[in-house]
Formats: sequence, C-alpha cells, structure tokens
Amino acid sequence: MNVDIQRELLRRFFALREARTTTLAASPYRQQASVYTDPERLEREERLLLRGRALVVALSADLPGTGDCLACEVAGVPLLLVRGEDAEVRAFLNICRHRGGRVFTGRGRPGRALKCPYHSWAYDLNGDLLGQPLARDAFEPLERTDLGLCPVSAAERFGLILVRLGSPEPVDVAEELAGLGPEVADWGFERWHFFTQREGRFEANWKLIRDTFLESYHVFSLHRDTLAPDMLSTPFVGDSFGPHHRGVVMRKEVVTLLERPESEWKLKPYGSIVYILFPNAVINLPMSGHAELWEMYPEPGDPHRTRVSVRFYIPREPADEDQRAFWEANVRFTGRVVFEEDFSQQQDIHRSLRTGLMPEVVYGRNEPALIHHHSEMERALASADALA
Ligand code: FES
Ligand SMILES: [Fe+2]
Repeated sequence: MNVDIQRELLRRFFALREARTTTLAASPYRQQASVYTDPERLEREERLLLRGRALVVALSADLPGTGDCLACEVAGVPLLLVRGEDAEVRAFLNICRHRGGRVFTGRGRPGRALKCPYHSWAYDLNGDLLGQPLARDAFEPLERTDLGLCPVSAAERFGLILVRLGSPEPVDVAEELAGLGPEVADWGFERWHFFTQREGRFEANWKLIRDTFLESYHVFSLHRDTLAPDMLSTPFVGDSFGPHHRGVVMRKEVVTLLERPESEWKLKPYGSIVYILFPNAVINLPMSGHAELWEMYPEPGDPHRTRVSVRFYIPREPADEDQRAFWEANVRFTGRVVFEEDFSQQQDIHRSLRTGLMPEVVYGRNEPALIHHHSEMERALASADALA
C-alpha cells in the first residue's frame, strides 16, 4: 500500500474521530438467519461461489522457488500447487490417477518426482505420469500420457495465487481483484517467508466464521482483555473494491501522529489492515508485523461446520531464537484472540440461529464491510443463478 493511500486513510480516520462517528453504510441490513443454516443455500454457495469463482488459496511466498509444492484443500477438494521449472505456478487435483491416493502432503520440494505412497506411481512437476513400478504390463493398453494429474485453472499475480475449480478457463487475477491488485502487490508477498500454519474445525456456518473479520465494532467488548487495551473499535476506515473490501483498525497510539507532519505519517505500526477477499479468504496484516492468510470452507454439504486454515508469514526468516520466539508469541496471541474468542462466539451464535426461533439478525450501519460482503454475496448468487 503506497504512502499516499496510507496518509489518505489516516486523514479519514482523524476526520471521523473528530466527528465522533465511523464509516457508515447507507442503511442497516436485515439478514435471514436461514442464510447461515439452510443446506440448500449452502449447496448454491458451494456450487456457484466456492467452485464457480476464482479463490485466493496461497501467497506467492508459499512457493518461493522452482520445484516447490504445496498440498492444500480447497472447498473439500485436495489440490496440489507446484512452481514448475519454468517458475510458473500450476495446480492439479492431488489425486493419483491409479486409485486416488494423495501424491503429495505438506509443503516443500518432493525431489525428482511426486510419488503416490500407495503403489508409488510417480509424476513430474508438470503432472505427467513418469512411472508405474512393478506394473510393466498391468495397465496396457492404457496410455501413460492419458494418466497425468488432472490440471486445475490457476494463476499468480500481485503476490497472490488463485485457483478456480469449476472451469478450465484461465484465471484473470487483475479482473478478479477488481482494482485491489496494485495495492496488494505493494506488500511484496513473493518476498515474505512462510512461518507456520494452523487449522481448525468449528461448529458454525463458514460465513459466520468469516464475519468475524468484517467489523471492528466488537473489539472493545469481545476482545476486552486481549486487543482492546491497545486497539480502537472505532472509527473503522474501509473501502470496497468490487466484491472485496479493505479495512483499517487503528491502535490507540495513532493519536501521536497528530503531533507530527503528515509527510511522516505511515499506517504501520498504528493500523491493522484487513483485506476481505471475496468470497472466503482474508489477508490480515496486524500491527505486530506478520501477515496471515485465512481461508474458510464449509465441510462439504454441511452448513453447520467449517474448516479454517491460517498461514502465518513473516518479513524474513528469523535470524535467531529470540526472533523466532517473538513470531511464535504472535501466533499464540492470534490463536487466543481469533480461535478462542472470535470463533467460540460464532459457535454460540450458530447454535442460537439453528434453533429457528430468531428469524433474522441485523447488521448495523457501523458494520459496512459486513453489509457490503453479504450484499455482494446475494448479488453473485443471483447473477450466477441467472447464467445457469
Ligand atoms: S493410488 Fe496412487 S499409486 Fe496406486
Ligand atoms: Fe475479533
């Protein structure tokens, strides 16, 4: 994010603070509780949004060099991301063409070939089948060339890696990001260093889990003992980019900038920046200096359960144990705030909505990113329905 945008966001923050208000949506939003609990609604979201659209599934930093691989699960589908010898990122179903084993797990370099653990079929980084040990005549007349890994549409740009499960059409990252690309590119995510990953399963709709990241109104209350001593619930400064959104939440110390000339203003370390990447990913850049990529997926077919993955990235590899301990403390703190405070709350909410006794919830004008995201979701579902 360039300094002009940072200063503009700070100016808006101070103007809102002066006026004792925050960024406001045009009107409150009444949301049907069934949006979070109805299996038919989930079926449309899975088909039209999670499989039908391009999704952000990794940062370039996840595949730092040629030959690097990353196994991941996207909307219930095991995927393999590979940076080939030509430095291009490719995606494949992580499903062996013999009988369906996973050809790679975790991350890193598989060496000369990707090898399925079940019967050791081997594939190269282009997904071509190289060998079938102990099976010289067993698969004739099937052609090896027809038994490569199944490709999935993928593209890399602005430091992000996107895939689209539902169609082989190329992914146009600039178009998908709707104007947000250059700002994201300024963070240089291809140069960051992957630090660690956490996963969890929660008993709440995937959108409730994602809603956690869509407003800062709750910080003073839910995060009273963790974030609130340092962070401000309000004013929240946010902007929309097509279906996406970028929000900034400030630290109390931001007021010290008022004593300095604007030419010295910078968001870091005074602001946490959150990119809400439609429909199900979040890049969070908290004040403490690391970056997080969050992904939320429903357990396939289940509106009541969500699989969450978060990867942590740091600006450079830790130089010593003290630096490593600092970043590990950040990871633990995030776990406490998000997994224990936010997601526990969302599980309680989900249980309440499942009772069917409260037919709607309301989003306030002071939750503009929440309103924007849900409005965009309705729009995307309606337009995908119209095309179907
Ligand atoms: S399932 Fe992969 S080699 Fe048999
Ligand atoms: Fe929160």
